[in-house]
This record gives sequence, C-alpha cells and structure tokens, in this order.
Amino acid sequence: MSLHGKVAIVTGSGRGLGLAYARELARLGAAVVVNDVDTEVAKAAVDTITADGGRATAVVAPVGPTETADRLVETAVSEFGRLDILVTNAGVLRDTVLWKMSDDDFDTVLNVHLRGTFTCVRAAATHMRAAGEGGRIIAIGSPTGQRGNFGQTNYAAAKAGIVGMVRTWAMELQRAGITVNAVVPVAATAMTETVPFFKDFVDAAAAGEPLPPFARKVLGFGTPEDAASVVGYLASDAAAEVTGQAIGIGGDRLALWSHPTEQVVAIAEDGWSTETISASAESLFGGAWQSVGQPMPKPPADPAAKPADGEGASQKP
Ligand SMILES: NC(=O)c1ccc[n+]([C@@H]2O[C@H](COP(=O)([O-])OP(=O)(O)OC[C@H]3O[C@@H](n4cnc5c(N)ncnc54)[C@H](O)[C@@H]3O)[C@@H](O)[C@H]2O)c1
Repeated sequence: MSLHGKVAIVTGSGRGLGLAYARELARLGAAVVVNDVDTEVAKAAVDTITADGGRATAVVAPVGPTETADRLVETAVSEFGRLDILVTNAGVLRDTVLWKMSDDDFDTVLNVHLRGTFTCVRAAATHMRAAGEGGRIIAIGSPTGQRGNFGQTNYAAAKAGIVGMVRTWAMELQRAGITVNAVVPVAATAMTETVPFFKDFVDAAAAGEPLPPFARKVLGFGTPEDAASVVGYLASDAAAEVTGQAIGIGGDRLALWSHPTEQVVAIAEDGWSTETISASAESLFGGAWQSVGQPMPKPPADPAAKPADGEGASQKP
C-alpha cells in the first residue's frame, strides 16, 4: 500500500473530501501538492499534513484555467521532483431549477468541474507520458452525474461529462501505463450541508457524533475519511490494472457503477420509421424504460435501528 517516493496533486484539498484525500495519500507516504482558492484552508491543510509527519506544499489558485493546471504540475516537479497521482476534486455548486439557472450559474460550475478536470488532467497526462513511468488519474464524479438530480442542471452536466472523459482517457492513456478512474463519493461536507435531506447527518458528523446505520449503510452517507479509502486504493499498486471505472463510496457502502449500455436492441429489416417505432415502442421497451434520479430511501422510525441484513447492499443505485 505504500506510496513512499510518489508525488500527488489534489485539487480543492483545503477542506472536505479533498482534504481527506490529501491526508490519506500523505499517510500512505506520498508528498502532496495541496490546492484551493481559499488561502487559509490551503495553508492549514499543509500544516496538518506536515504535523502528521507528511510532506506537502500549497498552490493557491482557481482550478479551471490552463495556467493553474500548469502551475500545479510545475510545483509537483519543482518541490518534490516528480508527479505520479492527480486527484481532480475541486468543486462548487450553483443549484437551481433549469428555468432559473443563469448563464453564470452554468458557466461557473462547468468551468471548475469539467474544464478544471480537463485542464488538470491534460497537464498531468502530458507530463506523465513524457516521464514514461505511468501514473494515476482519479477524477471525481457524483450520483447526480450518474442519475440526474432536481435543481442541478449544471452539476449533472459537469459530473456526467467527467465520467465520460474518464472512459475516453482510460483508452487514450492505457499504453502509457496511466490508469484513469472516477470516484463517486457521498459524504458530510460543506457541500452536502446545503442539501436539506442530509443536513441533520452533516450536523451530527460536524459535532463528532457517529452517523446512524441508516445513513452509513442504506443512504451510503458517511465522512470524507470513508471516501478517502477509495482514492488510497486507486493510487496504490493494488489498483495497477484498474482503469476506466467509476467506484462509489459513502459511509459503509462501496459500489461499482455500471457504464451506460444498451438495454434493448431491435433490428428492422429496412430501417425504422416514425410509424413502426410508434407501433412497437411499448412492446419493445415497455418493461425497460429507465428511471431517473437517485433513490432516497425513507428513514426508519428509529434512525439508530440496525438495517436488516443486506439492506443497502442490495439497493440498486
Ligand atoms: N460531499 C459530497 O457528498 C459529494 C458528493 C458527490 C461529489 N462530490 C464532489 O466532491 C468534490 C469535493 O466536494 P466537497 O463536498 O468536499 O466540497 P467542499 O465545498 O467541502 O470543498 C470543496 C473545496 O474546493 C475548493 N474550491 C472551489 N472552487 C475551487 C477552484 N476553482 N479551484 C480550487 N479549489 C476550489 C473550495 O474552496 C473547497 O475548499 C467536488 O468535486 C464535489 O462535487 C461531493
């Protein structure tokens, strides 16, 4: 599991999930380039990692522009001599329903998540290919990108786009020995504090209280540290052959997401017309229309109750 001698960049790692990823990679031995737009949390993250016996430096700059991506790679090389691991985690929300979403809401979210992932991975992959020693790219998706979510047009577009890019990059970078995977986390952070459904659990986690089994096992909602284990795994030798995957983690739930795939295929001898599709669609697709959105199971009367054996694990995402 050791990452001694390795160097990682984690974007948006001043707080929340990014901080947990940076700390986990440092715990495993990697030197870490911390990044955030918030100077104070970036500095505090470096201090925490250093106090724990790790090595870290900070780049305070907004992910999105190419200049920041280049600066992150240059800093990894100038401070620690190499680059092995990139985690593209930086993110913001601008939630509102489609008809109220401004151009700025859309562009801001796409710029940080989708463009930020693109520019950082392009810079890191260019360096890794030239260095010829392989590497690990870990991008961050979301259940919203996989399934859609009310009020998150911009975020759904960005996160679905990120997992789409991951599949493409897994193919393009395979020959260079660079694995590319997505993590689909759910955890108590400042970001989920804004979701009313999760608010009580985020408050409990912030107060240091253990999350109830319903949250951890059925909802798949836990702490940033829970999610960091998947980043540690994907960066480690144990995952050397794993690429093009989307791995879900939240609380006690670990999941492998499927990629979109055709559910029903029908061939018409001379092609399909509006009339023949209209006449056949229900009989062809009727049992297979796809649901949208992430299921939100109802809490039990006693939230501390232990879920039945297999509950949560059997839940289809
Ligand atoms: N929390 C969840 O349950 C959850 C679920 C799915 C996906 N995610 C994803 O995980 C990532 C981290 O989320 P979080 O919950 O820790 O959020 P958070 O808001 O707690 O932390 C995000 C960090 O990114 C920083 N940041 C924002 N814009 C930046 C930019 N342009 N450049 C650099 N840093 C920037 C912020 O200052 C902050 O420190 C995001 O990509 C988010 O979409 C989170």
